[in-house]
Amino acid sequence: MAVKNAMTADFLRSAYGGESAAHMRYLIWGDMAEKEGFPNIKRLFYAIAYAEQAHATNHFKELGEQVGPATVTCGAEFGAGKTVDNLQGAIDGERHEVEQMYPVYLNAAEFQNEKGAQRAFHFALEAEKIHVKLFEDAQKSAREGKDINIQKVYICPICGYTVVDNAPDVCPVCGAKKEMFKEF
Ligand code: FE2
Ligand code: FE2
Ligand code: FE2
Repeated sequence: MAVKNAMTADFLRSAYGGESAAHMRYLIWGDMAEKEGFPNIKRLFYAIAYAEQAHATNHFKELGEQVGPATVTCGAEFGAGKTVDNLQGAIDGERHEVEQMYPVYLNAAEFQNEKGAQRAFHFALEAEKIHVKLFEDAQKSAREGKDINIQKVYICPICGYTVVDNAPDVCPVCGAKKEMFKEF
């Protein structure tokens, strides 16, 4: 199924842009966190970068029949500072997605009866709620000069659901099986 309505298509393009930028800056901030002596915060950034890739992929595929160039307007956080500050950028970006962007995009997709876009926006919204919390916890540790105490991070490749230490038997958001989760 591919998107039919122009407004939802624009929101998919914008969301694709936002997710792409988030993916990239989390890799950058992850490398900076490692240099600062926070290998597990790097692990978290890299894992969540992969979740954002899953979201970008869903949005991109939903635009499958809309072939051709487009200029994309999207929100993105900038700044390459200390990890505490970079995490604030991450928190602000994720909060924007949870409190404004995805609820509005999801509402538009529901109004326009765009089932595929609803699925893509719903998946992203649920994962971003978790990302807010994980980045807030990481920032608390970084403020005290400490790395986070996690072993592994698992990402659902279908919806970006993000969980620390153990993958669930079945993804609570999309139903993907444990074996599909990517480990970081
Ligand atoms: Fe995302
Ligand atoms: Fe996120
Ligand atoms: Fe999932």
